[in-house]
Amino acid sequence: MARVSQTVRAMPDVSRSRTLFEEAGRLMPGGTQLLSRRPSLFLADAWPVYAERAEGCRIWDIDGNEYIDFLAGFGPFVLGYGCEVVDRAVIEQIGKTTCSTLNNPLEVEVARRLVEVVPCAEMVRFSKCGGEADAMAIRIARGYTGRDRVLFCGYHGWHDWYIAANLSSAEALNAHLLPGVSPRGVPKGLAGTAIPFEYNNLDSLRGALEAHRGEVAAVIMEACRSKAPAPGYLEGVRRLATEHGAVLIFDEVVTGFRLALGGAQAYFGVTPDLTTFAKALGNGYPLSAVVGRREVMEGAATQFISSLYWSDAVGLAAAKASLDEMRRIDAQGLLWARGRLLKEGMTEVIARRGVPVRCVGYEPMLSLAFEVEDAGLRKTMLSVYQQEMLRRGFLAGTGHPLSVAHTEEVIAAFVSAADEAFAEVRAGLDAGDLETRLETTGGQQEGFRRLV
Ligand SMILES: Cc1ncc(COP(=O)(O)O)c(C=O)c1O
Repeated sequence: MARVSQTVRAMPDVSRSRTLFEEAGRLMPGGTQLLSRRPSLFLADAWPVYAERAEGCRIWDIDGNEYIDFLAGFGPFVLGYGCEVVDRAVIEQIGKTTCSTLNNPLEVEVARRLVEVVPCAEMVRFSKCGGEADAMAIRIARGYTGRDRVLFCGYHGWHDWYIAANLSSAEALNAHLLPGVSPRGVPKGLAGTAIPFEYNNLDSLRGALEAHRGEVAAVIMEACRSKAPAPGYLEGVRRLATEHGAVLIFDEVVTGFRLALGGAQAYFGVTPDLTTFAKALGNGYPLSAVVGRREVMEGAATQFISSLYWSDAVGLAAAKASLDEMRRIDAQGLLWARGRLLKEGMTEVIARRGVPVRCVGYEPMLSLAFEVEDAGLRKTMLSVYQQEMLRRGFLAGTGHPLSVAHTEEVIAAFVSAADEAFAEVRAGLDAGDLETRLETTGGQQEGFRRLV
């Protein structure tokens, strides 16, 4: 087993990352492809922006620094980075074919597996990313109902149907994605087609459905995020969607293959009409899917929903191997057990250091909530915490989508480092000099906020 080091060290030298990121800013608007990978979301100048390689729960940056990664690639790696079984399946597939004139039989094999484990799944279509699968599900729902409006809760990607919410009100996405999202580039004609509702508030959904009676094609939401659904809430959503003839879509891009092999719907026992999966489906190889009831799904055969790389066999080989491996080792059982250790440990050190932080959420997808009103202070607290974790060799932040490679030993080391990091935060809060404890010029600058 690899050594777990807790030595406090100087801030890592990330100069090669910084130089490359400067060039990235000149070559690519925004510098990164995924908003969540922007260094300004972490420690700006001090953040290791580029990875050279990753294995298990470890990552090596291009400056040669090694970290244990508790941000874990933002969620796809239930089986850890570079899972041997998955990589081998991909390499074998590359030796055969990944894309040709003909379809790949793996499509049927992966679809068969999804139908076996996901309660709502009777038919399946594939795509590559989470946002793309959501857009496809919305198209299918609109086609099935002949209606235009969509009621949504939470984050669902970058496509027009969703960002259109901010055409009617500049604040519609504030509580679901992040404040100040510009709908520039989204056709103005889509105004009023995407309408938010509040999580755990059935009246909010009921009100929106009644205000647009007979016009709502779909209700799309995550079954949970860090907040648990109130008793009867998801059942109430299911009932309301049915009453109003709207297609209920669970976005399981995050919850899929984490809470249970059959997703949040299996865990909570509430079955939607359609579901989208991405992230963990291919354990880091790109594949997403829309699955659902035959009656709703089969309309997709005559809508125009088509793309060359949706049958790319790299993602499909990875998904087949991932689904089989997750089932073989009971990956979800392991995630719950490891998450329990992490939650207990973090809750204990947070209490010991008396910092205004809570470890929240379901064990396979925990997060840290920094709970101070003052947004500036909150960001400084998070930055000092991240800095101290970085000095101890950990990539840390607010989200902890664990993998099975996060062993008990690694979790114990993380908790022990967090204990020391929180001690520094506490000392800074007590002395009123938290800001001066930041060794980097840029602490966290932007926030990616979601409702649940
Ligand atoms: C719930 C949810 N839906 C959709 C997406 C978009 O997925 P992708 O980034 O693969 O397009 C995400 C991404 O984090 C997500 O969390």
